[in-house]
Amino acid sequence: MKKNFAIAVIALLSYPSFSQNDIPSKAKALLAKMTLAEKIGQLNLIIPGGAAVTGSVVSSDVENKIKNGQVGGLFGITSPAKVRKAQELAVKGSRLQIPMIFGLDVIHGHKTIFPIPLGLSASWDMGLIEQSARIAATEASADGLNWAFSPMVDIARDARWGRISEGSGEDPYLGGQVAKAMVHGYQGDDLSKNNTIMACVKHFALYGAAEAGREYNTVDMSRIKMYEYYLPPYKAAVDAGAGSIMSSFNEIDGVPATGNKWLLTDLLRKEWGFKGFVVSDYTSLNEMTAHGVGDLQTVSAQSLKAGLDMDMVGEGLLTTLGKSVKEGKVAVADIDKACLRILEAKFKLGLFDDPYRYIDEARTAKDILTPANRQAARNIAAHSMVLLKNNHQVLPLKKSGTIALVGPLADNKRNMLGTWVVAGDWRESVSVLEGIKNVTGNSVNILTAKGANLTDDSLFAKRTNALGIEVEIDTRSPQAMIDEAVAAANQSDMIVAVVGEAADMSGESSSRADISLPASQQNLLKALSKTGKPLVVVLINGRPLTLVWENDHATAILEAWAPGTEAGNAVADVLFGNYNPSGKITATFPRSVGQIPIYYNHKNTGRPFDGTGFPKFKSNYLDESNDPLYPFGYGLSYTSFQYSPVKLSRTVLKGEEKLTASVTLQNTGRYAGEEVVQLYISDPVASVTRSVKDLKGFQKILLQAGETKEISFQITTEQLSFFNYDLKKVWEPGKFVIHIGTNSSEVQSAALQWNK
Ligand code: BGC
Repeated sequence: MKKNFAIAVIALLSYPSFSQNDIPSKAKALLAKMTLAEKIGQLNLIIPGGAAVTGSVVSSDVENKIKNGQVGGLFGITSPAKVRKAQELAVKGSRLQIPMIFGLDVIHGHKTIFPIPLGLSASWDMGLIEQSARIAATEASADGLNWAFSPMVDIARDARWGRISEGSGEDPYLGGQVAKAMVHGYQGDDLSKNNTIMACVKHFALYGAAEAGREYNTVDMSRIKMYEYYLPPYKAAVDAGAGSIMSSFNEIDGVPATGNKWLLTDLLRKEWGFKGFVVSDYTSLNEMTAHGVGDLQTVSAQSLKAGLDMDMVGEGLLTTLGKSVKEGKVAVADIDKACLRILEAKFKLGLFDDPYRYIDEARTAKDILTPANRQAARNIAAHSMVLLKNNHQVLPLKKSGTIALVGPLADNKRNMLGTWVVAGDWRESVSVLEGIKNVTGNSVNILTAKGANLTDDSLFAKRTNALGIEVEIDTRSPQAMIDEAVAAANQSDMIVAVVGEAADMSGESSSRADISLPASQQNLLKALSKTGKPLVVVLINGRPLTLVWENDHATAILEAWAPGTEAGNAVADVLFGNYNPSGKITATFPRSVGQIPIYYNHKNTGRPFDGTGFPKFKSNYLDESNDPLYPFGYGLSYTSFQYSPVKLSRTVLKGEEKLTASVTLQNTGRYAGEEVVQLYISDPVASVTRSVKDLKGFQKILLQAGETKEISFQITTEQLSFFNYDLKKVWEPGKFVIHIGTNSSEVQSAALQWNK
């Protein structure tokens, strides 16, 4: 501790304390002392060997580069000891002693892991989502870090894309609310505190619209669609004060995002007023060469001029900018701009006051994986789960009798955390079996059987296991495993089958062309269903799946996502009614892959299909319904809710007048429960075609059994507005329809006239 103190004092002497207002002038003063090489060095973000890598390149000669002032930040290392060692190299070893920033993929928790972001969003509870990011920031900063590569706010309408698990689903309004909550959670109200960290919004932009859901694929989209549906969550994060933003791998209008001036300067800085810095994604700068827009020197110059400030791993800026300056291809002023933004970020984080402010071994022991953090993870996980089906009120289960607990994920810790848990340790997680024992004590007799492999397909297993063994193929035959599970079922009152995906069957580079349960698990469920025992399916997975058979045959289905460290406890809390589920899906569950992309806020088309029969020459399929299996916003409760018709405070309005739309919500069931009351608006006639409806508000309400409450939404012209053909945000007078309901399909509606 003494040593840390001495270093801090030295740092304080060299960079006297300052107020946040002084930052630009302090950064400029420092810049004036820097050589061109040192400025370029600040733009370099590297990953030392041994960390989790997501590309084919790792950084080399890290120590010397840091001492030579060739590194602005590091990512991929954790623990105060390692971070201190690296920081010392910069602060003691480099000429200007400029501290580095330390980043990591802190995506849904640091060591205490929360549900995957798609699950978090399904809670529709912004307070809990912010709390998850706050705890993540506390733990990450107690581990030496000050920068999280999160929130991921990419809108996704295609469940084949594995990274749908990392975002908040398909809706821009909800996505924007989540983005804001996450940024506040990470950054708090003062970035220089030692328990707040800088957020990095990603992946800017449109990454979630990769064609065919295939990872890293081309994106091609109209401006109206961008502005209306894909950009709002990034904008919300910027408005919430996010300190940094990460460019995406994909191209936009034929220009890769990392080198796209329209995106990084015209839109982000000029239109939105973003003041932080832009970092590339992992080697996304170098990959512009493969995209086909030039060699490394060309794409580096292009990216810098487009507005990129920091280069992740690829060292294109580090190795080519000097030459480009000499050849007159890049102005020093452009390098200055980027360098200043990075220095400013370091000032904001308080690193010039004390480069070691995030390094505190005492905090590591005190703040990480605490009982309180685990309790929060358990609570948040329970809130993220979505009850998809519950026939005959089979759930909640009684804490008595015999249960056959089967399935490859029933007695499994390895796959509870989900994708992107760089610092999370699956050994810390609670299996569903353990959770059920914790919650029921000895009152339930549990018979267990694995029943099936996650998949029997060895190639699929091998690919899933690229980052570690998540899928273990049993030495027994599939039939022997099924027989064992069926025998357990026959001796039980009911079956709980825990099935789904391994952690990395979704996530980065985990696109799937078939999003059903793997055949091995389908075969298990089919055999179990034949026993005639009530069949409760608990799904642990990272994306919407196609579940038509399961929906037809299971008695109940609980979507638990990858629930995180407290997985089993949270699943058991929900199964046994300690918590009444309240989650609602934030991405549509298709009936079949052929329906994708499928999303609730689609256009009407010129030949809309009303859902009855098969009219020829309408917008429909010969062999599939247009309807999803479960619509956006859908989720059941152990209790039931009844909505009154929508009441409008008035039906004719003018100009900037305001409207109140309300419903009376009644809990008509036997349990206290929460309902997410959703407000949608449609604008049937406009100068550009609008979607059939758009989410414009929601409230999560707790009602006791039998309780009734009036739920009101204030509506202003802001909620009527949209981007017109000239990309101006306008509202146009006319008829509007207000819908309030329990999901995007089941709503009560009322129309009104809003004049100019
Ligand atoms: C991912 C980013 C991540 C980065 C650093 C990339 O492959 O796309 O989301 O933050 O790696 O690990």
